[in-house]
Amino acid sequence: MIAAAGEAKGSRIGSNARSAWEALRDEAKGCKRCHLWKPATQTVFGEGPVDAALMFVGEQPGDQEDLAGRPFVGPAGQLLDRALGEAGVDRDRAYVTNAVKHFKFEPRGKRRIHAKPQGPEIAACRWWIEQERMLIRPPVTVALGATAARSLLGKVVTIAGARGRAHTLEDGGECWVTVHPSYLLRMPDHSRAQEEYARFVAELRTMGERAAALTR
Ligand code: URA
Repeated sequence: MIAAAGEAKGSRIGSNARSAWEALRDEAKGCKRCHLWKPATQTVFGEGPVDAALMFVGEQPGDQEDLAGRPFVGPAGQLLDRALGEAGVDRDRAYVTNAVKHFKFEPRGKRRIHAKPQGPEIAACRWWIEQERMLIRPPVTVALGATAARSLLGKVVTIAGARGRAHTLEDGGECWVTVHPSYLLRMPDHSRAQEEYARFVAELRTMGERAAALTR
């Protein structure tokens, strides 16, 4: 298993970090920075150790996450968990969150269909991700998909153009960009999906190794 969070980093993070994070999470429960709070069930804040060396950032909670109040617990989360397992990265030692903290959807009968967050919603929610990153200061932050990359890098990028290298964030941390697990779930061509999944696993392994190297 790659050390996604180095125990030796305890000294890097103050012992008050957990309570500061809990205060932040509690504050986020009442977030009304944009209109998305209204139809959503609840804020889905990030979770994981406050000394995590790896932070994963998704787009926004889906239907199941909205109900459970936890990030990446639905189908995309299950695929992420499988890929992390194959890459030797321990999810429990990583911090997992989203660029947008409320589920954006369109009602269709009894179903709630995922709707992509737009620039103003991503911008309104950026404050939370900045606070999370400031507290945790992960050496490696992984953007899962274009919305997360846009939030973290502060500009619109394509996955093809941004993946495969480290982007330096304002605090000096590295941001690595890869696909969103939902993209892999939606791929109609089975053999292409398998290829893309293998690439995703390889990227996660590289990111885990990078985080471990930077916390040594
Ligand atoms: N997709 C995301 O981007 N985040 C989640 O938490 C779940 C699905």
